[in-house]
Amino acid sequence: MKITKILFLIAAISLFGSCREKSTPTKEKDIPPQDMAIEQLALQLIEAEKNNRIPRTVKVDGEMHWTNQKFDWTEGFFPGSLWYLYEYTKDEKWKDAAESFQAMFENHKYMTAYHDLGFIFNCSYGKGYELTENSDFAAVMITAADSLSTRFDSTIGCIKSWDVDKGWQAERGWLFPVIIDNLMNLELLFKASELTGNPKYKTIAIAHANATLKNHFREDHSSYHVVDYDPATGDVRSKQTAQGFANESAWARGQAWGLYGYTVCYRYTKDKKYLDQAIKIAQFIADNKPADGIPYWDYNADKIPNEPRDVSAAAITVSALIELDGYTKDSYLPQIDQILNSLGSDIYTSKIGENHNFILKHSVGSIPHGNEIDVPLNYADYYYLEALIRYQDQF
Ligand code: GLY
Repeated sequence: MKITKILFLIAAISLFGSCREKSTPTKEKDIPPQDMAIEQLALQLIEAEKNNRIPRTVKVDGEMHWTNQKFDWTEGFFPGSLWYLYEYTKDEKWKDAAESFQAMFENHKYMTAYHDLGFIFNCSYGKGYELTENSDFAAVMITAADSLSTRFDSTIGCIKSWDVDKGWQAERGWLFPVIIDNLMNLELLFKASELTGNPKYKTIAIAHANATLKNHFREDHSSYHVVDYDPATGDVRSKQTAQGFANESAWARGQAWGLYGYTVCYRYTKDKKYLDQAIKIAQFIADNKPADGIPYWDYNADKIPNEPRDVSAAAITVSALIELDGYTKDSYLPQIDQILNSLGSDIYTSKIGENHNFILKHSVGSIPHGNEIDVPLNYADYYYLEALIRYQDQF
């Protein structure tokens, strides 16, 4: 009798346990433990320190591709990932490494020939400042924000993305190209206004966000990649793509940048039109995503399902959705869980010790340029780590 009772109790507990497992987000079980990311990046850090270089991706020949030391829009992401691991572990080893890797490009804060200073300095020094309040980091951010601000044109109301006097950009006939990615530079400007008390950076960010809202989006809330403006009049000259499948297609990472960018604009302004825009972009993504939530490199690529995925777009999207979920009544949790569970699967996560110790596989840099196709990318790992930590803090 006693034994029967005990057996009944065990059966009841395990039944209750299995029901709970089905009805709650199974974070520990389905999302790879942050510990796994720590192990991978610990190994990657050894290789990076040995070479004194910043990892960007893996080349076709299987060798590590380091960032370009002259300037590289991705150079902030590796130290940014190290800052995230410091936030997660509180182990000073990650802080020391983040500081030493971001110092490698500190002097790029003066560069005015590129718009990427927001990407670079917000993800590295900006994250570091958030965690340490080191005033030296704030000074670097403000100088970078000043350099970025020189690219703002008040007739157009935008920051110029690419110079058009050299390289492949010179062949497109553009005068003042603005890419959707440029929204990601605005966070640095919002922070610069907070740090200095000077509204001028925020004013530029808001003007850029408003012009992009007006000119970059289609009726279905997908966005163009490149809008070219006439500096004499401020008028739109053309709407095209550079990294997408076609001018009228929805390049996957561009949609992710838009979602993330307007969510950040809402964070700093509380202006509802930015929240509404982020919700509309999230809806476009939800309506067009594949079954596992990981987008193909362009939502309109012509050979889907025989097209490369872009895991970087998924990582950026899921991190943005977690923040957006905190601002909305509708929950994005099912979509968030779907993307995180997919990213954590063997399909998209590298085995420890493989893939030059990048965490995620199967991203795309730029297919039209034949660059970085089906590879790991340092920014996919950065936004994935950000998403894992945001998830843990929020749900
Ligand atoms: N320019 C950033 C990107 O390739 O997404």
